[in-house]
Amino acid sequence: MIEAEWWDYDSAEEMAEAVAGDVGFIIESAVEARGEALLALAGGSTPGPIYRKLAEAKLPWKRVTIIPGDERLVPLQDKLSNARALAETFLKSGARVVPVTGDIADYRLAGNSADARLQDLKWPPDLVWLGMGGDGHTASIFPGPDYEDALNAPKARRMVGVMPDPLPPEAPMARVTLTRAAILSARTLMIVLTGEAKKQLLEGAIADGQSSRYPIGRVLAEAEQPIDIHWCP
Ligand code: 6PG
Repeated sequence: MIEAEWWDYDSAEEMAEAVAGDVGFIIESAVEARGEALLALAGGSTPGPIYRKLAEAKLPWKRVTIIPGDERLVPLQDKLSNARALAETFLKSGARVVPVTGDIADYRLAGNSADARLQDLKWPPDLVWLGMGGDGHTASIFPGPDYEDALNAPKARRMVGVMPDPLPPEAPMARVTLTRAAILSARTLMIVLTGEAKKQLLEGAIADGQSSRYPIGRVLAEAEQPIDIHWCP
């Protein structure tokens, strides 16, 4: 049974304030308990204003490592790169941002390389922050030839390469993504989304669980931790 707690806000500004505060608390608690914090952060457009607010906070940033929870197979300087966006926002705060892709064209090999990079990090992440596409994907877990691999990879596997089919119009390319097991290994699991349509899709996907036609339903179906869902219209 998925244990989802919804936190609804009247505006994006109110949500940004609250979520930035929550992530700041996660960072401080992790550093106090273990001397460091590992955050796996979502790409896409929704988190941007929240990341910028979070980056301004007085936190032990030198102890914080940030990875993209998924990445498009584009050059690091490409505007579609999630690692580029995270580096632009958080490097100046003093955090370490770890890109997970290099210049490997074969997406499955890129997935192996990304997994190897993450194997070097102390695991599990203190936070996995997910977004959700209008098609119900999360991270870069999409329908396609690698869908079941991303969902059913062994617990030890942290990232895999995927070729979405159909390709999502906003970033029509192969990806690497945290596996379901890696996502669900998070000490704290958070979803941040906006709009009525996405809220209804997510509510349905949670209700359907493992039988959901949407990737996010399949991912969350096996969650053992409570899931904080932050939403505004
Ligand atoms: C990506 C993201 C992806 C994103 C959703 C929602 O690389 O595309 O990690 O999972 O969170 O597509 O994106 P928006 O916030 O732009 O709607």
